[in-house]
Amino acid sequence: MTLGILGAGQAGSTLARAAVAAGYDVVIANSRAPGTLADLVHALGPRARAAWAPDAAAAADFAFLAFPYRPEHTLPAAELAGKVVLDNNNYMPRRDGIFPAVVSGEKTVHELRQEQLPGARLAKAFSHIQFHGRVPVRVAADALPALVRLARPAGAPDRTALVVSSDHPEAVALVARFYDALGFDTVDSSPLSESWRSAPGTPMWEQSFDGQTRKELERNLQLAARPTG
Ligand SMILES: NC(=O)c1ccc[n+]([C@@H]2O[C@H](COP(=O)([O-])OP(=O)(O)OC[C@H]3O[C@@H](n4cnc5c(N)ncnc54)[C@H](OP(=O)(O)O)[C@@H]3O)[C@@H](O)[C@H]2O)c1
Repeated sequence: MTLGILGAGQAGSTLARAAVAAGYDVVIANSRAPGTLADLVHALGPRARAAWAPDAAAAADFAFLAFPYRPEHTLPAAELAGKVVLDNNNYMPRRDGIFPAVVSGEKTVHELRQEQLPGARLAKAFSHIQFHGRVPVRVAADALPALVRLARPAGAPDRTALVVSSDHPEAVALVARFYDALGFDTVDSSPLSESWRSAPGTPMWEQSFDGQTRKELERNLQLAARPTG
């Protein structure tokens, strides 16, 4: 399977490392030319290459968007049509500005992104796992990205579960397989209109830094109260 990663900052580059380690091929892009990612792809090894964003989208069996949603974005919609596209964005008004439909609770930011990619099967995924170390650091392992620090083999009693939300069951199934390959259980919080339950500030969000089991995550999702603007 080839994972196309659009966005090569903290989230995209860290997911690329984990995916390569789990046996996936990776084509990664940022908003600039592929040559700007030469050091990263060299460090990732022969399973990875850099590309322009539309070429990474075209080469992907499934894709990961690792940059914030913006209303004015023109994404490679034709290249992503028919594919499962993972969106790990978290809406942060101080960073992104005010999106009235999201603030009022009319839509989630992931539904807005699905509208930008009408032919793709969008899934909110990886949004509450940190791609950086724990703050504050308590023990040496805390310096690792949570994506690495919290990964466990299937069946481990303390295995962390991650949320997926999608309007497409086959996207949920693909994300669950990918989570499992990277060391995580899955909690399905579909459809996309329910994805506000795992937004920043919700009960599950407050518990996400050191991981939560499937049961804990399911309970915390139910405790969420919808923002009403
Ligand atoms: N960091 C985390 O731990 C974490 C955890 C959960 C969720 N997230 C979410 O992940 C997303 C990315 O966060 P980050 O911390 O990785 O940000 P970041 O370090 O600022 O990286 C953003 C990357 O996206 C690229 N980019 C921007 N617009 C693009 C476009 N239209 N096409 C292709 N690439 C584009 C940037 O390219 P250039 O360098 O060329 O500008 C950069 O490589 C955010 O939505 C955030 O909410 C992050």
